[in-house]
Amino acid sequence: MTYAAVTGWGKCMPPAILSNADLATFLDTDDEWITTRTGMKERRISHVNAIEMAYVAAMRTLACAGLAASDIDLIVYGSCSNDEMVPNTASALQYKLGAGNAAAMDVNTACTSFLYSWSTANAMIRSGVVRRALVVGVELISRYMDWDNRGVAVLFGDGAAAIVLEATEERTGLLAETLGCYADARGILRIGGYGAAYANSNVTFGDMSWIFDGPQIFKKAVQGMTDASAKTLDKVGVSSSDIDLVVPHQANARIIEAVAKYAGIPMAKVHLTVQKYGNMSAATVPVALVEALEEGRLGPRGKLLMPAFGAGLTLCSHYAEWGERTSPKDVADVELPPCESTALELVQAIRAAKDIRGRSAAGLAGAYLVDQRPYGAQ
Ligand code: UT7
Repeated sequence: MTYAAVTGWGKCMPPAILSNADLATFLDTDDEWITTRTGMKERRISHVNAIEMAYVAAMRTLACAGLAASDIDLIVYGSCSNDEMVPNTASALQYKLGAGNAAAMDVNTACTSFLYSWSTANAMIRSGVVRRALVVGVELISRYMDWDNRGVAVLFGDGAAAIVLEATEERTGLLAETLGCYADARGILRIGGYGAAYANSNVTFGDMSWIFDGPQIFKKAVQGMTDASAKTLDKVGVSSSDIDLVVPHQANARIIEAVAKYAGIPMAKVHLTVQKYGNMSAATVPVALVEALEEGRLGPRGKLLMPAFGAGLTLCSHYAEWGERTSPKDVADVELPPCESTALELVQAIRAAKDIRGRSAAGLAGAYLVDQRPYGAQ
């Protein structure tokens, strides 16, 4: 039987750090509220497009696996903040990497996008369609954040990470998952103005308005992650006491504590990044996974549980068994371009652009913060 081993991993964190104190300079909030309600202290704000973060994470991941870009058969790009909708974003990554032999697809299930992407690539490898896949989780939420809404602006951050999967006859990698969606609750987490339905209308693209019922999302998140985790462990016949490490989606430390409690897993076995990165949507789980490996928290043959939820409300929980290798084969000599601004300056630039163009200026903010030329345009 064919399985899909994880043979490479890597991340890319933008360097600019936005603290709770920075947020309190322009929002009616404070460090105490944010820390006690969410567990968050800092988050990163990107000075480059999402594709740049994805590229650096992907190069590090390929080096870790000891592979060239041309070895990859499939790129699955998990995100809900794609730089462009048409053409898809995975094709931009294929172009930038020079991964000319790879099929390229985007998956958007919001915060669960990386884990749904892993499921997609895993199934395609296990059914023999492809042999080697690059799976990316990346988000640039800062660009379409409503920075004047304290109910959401304090919660999110930017980042990227990836894994490489390779076909193997060894029983390893993703062994069971549960995927689901509470679509009746899809209206409680929504970004208005972001989609083709708004095109050529009196709502301009960039007219981002967040609908976000935090307490309701909180309850659904705990329920969804808890139920999905129980089903997944049942499917694979593993007890929660056998789990070595939980790498959950990180939207709120209190959500994670509740899910761990219901699963009967001590917090000492949960890898937390929420305090320093906030909620990076699709990038959260892969970044935390890479850091767990870097910090030696996941050993050879480690048993991993990865519950997540996101807008939709999509939910999932993945069970994976690691292979023998927990250190990279090689290291890539690649970095993001230097960042000349503070995170607060980057955020203020987005807010200022919005002021200049009223409710339709996220695009303008992008225009002077980063290069918007599409990859592949000659
Ligand atoms: O990945 C999916 C993304 N979303 C989530 O996972 C979010 C899930 N929800 C949550 O994490 C929590 O519901 C929040 C962190 C968003 C909010 O925490 P909460 O304990 O549910 O607070 P709340 O929404 O019930 O608000 C309590 C109070 C309100 O004031 P009043 O009505 O009691 O006077 C809010 O206006 O806190 C106020 N508030 C704030 N105060 C200071 C809301 N946001 C803030 C803020 N700073 N940033």
